[in-house]
Amino acid sequence: MAQPLTQSHPQPTKTKSSILLRYIAIIILALIILVGIAVLIIWLVLKPKHLQYSVENASIHDFNLTDANHLYANFDFTIRANNPNSKVSFYYDSVEVSVRYEDQTLATNAVQPFFQPHKNVTRMHVRLTSQTVALYDSVPKDLKLEKSSGDIELDVLIRARIRFKVGMWKSKHRILKIFCSPVLVNFSKAKSFERAYCDVEM
Ligand SMILES: *[C@@H]1O[C@H](CO)[C@@H](O)[C@H](O)[C@H]1NC(C)=O
Ligand SMILES: *[C@@H]1O[C@H](CO)[C@@H](O)[C@H](O)[C@H]1NC(C)=O
Ligand SMILES: *[C@@H]1O[C@H](CO)[C@@H](O)[C@H](O)[C@H]1NC(C)=O
Ligand SMILES: *[C@@H]1O[C@H](CO)[C@@H](O)[C@H](O)[C@H]1NC(C)=O
Repeated sequence: MAQPLTQSHPQPTKTKSSILLRYIAIIILALIILVGIAVLIIWLVLKPKHLQYSVENASIHDFNLTDANHLYANFDFTIRANNPNSKVSFYYDSVEVSVRYEDQTLATNAVQPFFQPHKNVTRMHVRLTSQTVALYDSVPKDLKLEKSSGDIELDVLIRARIRFKVGMWKSKHRILKIFCSPVLVNFSKAKSFERAYCDVEM
């Protein structure tokens, strides 16, 4: 005679709820796997490419370094943002651009939020203004040397909160960090500016 071996004494209500729980667990697991596969397929189909950034033009105006080591200056940058993706577009919900010299931030400004369609090149014209920025350590001395030499090596940093859009789907916010260095700017003439390429980190 066959005897059930591990059969304990189940209470009917408990069995029902544990079967229900098992179903729910299986359904959740199946959903997770399906979503994972869908994300993988979307990723493979879209093959997202990195954004490409460069500084196309730069100039310095009204440069004035006072005896008290306070800096007044206007920095103009033309930043080229290339979205090479054919299916992914980007929302730039906040964009902040700063200019740095020897690890000291000279000026910061925000750029108007914008939407960048796929396969699009957008140029941002940014003016950064230094108003009584106090310089410390060797920075004022080096800045004076650079000024008399005629050009200066700057770093341009961009920090943006972006979302990407594929069809109707929009991603969550991500932080995009862009670092352009060195950006060699001539104090007197912008004509000779050579494009500086940037590192993009997402
Ligand atoms: C630079 O700034 C100082 C202090 O504000 C001012 O006295 C001086 O005239 C300025 N120099 C130039 C060339 O603008
Ligand atoms: C890029 O997108 C902007 C904003 O939609 C548009 O004004 C501009 O003309 C586009 N540029 C190109 C090269 O498609
Ligand atoms: C800056 O531009 C001026 C005018 O074009 C040029 O004479 C000078 O050599 C340049 N300075 C440097 C350091 O490149
Ligand atoms: C860069 O900007 C200066 C002044 O704003 C302008 O004269 C010059 O033509 C620009 N150069 C390029 C390559 O756009």
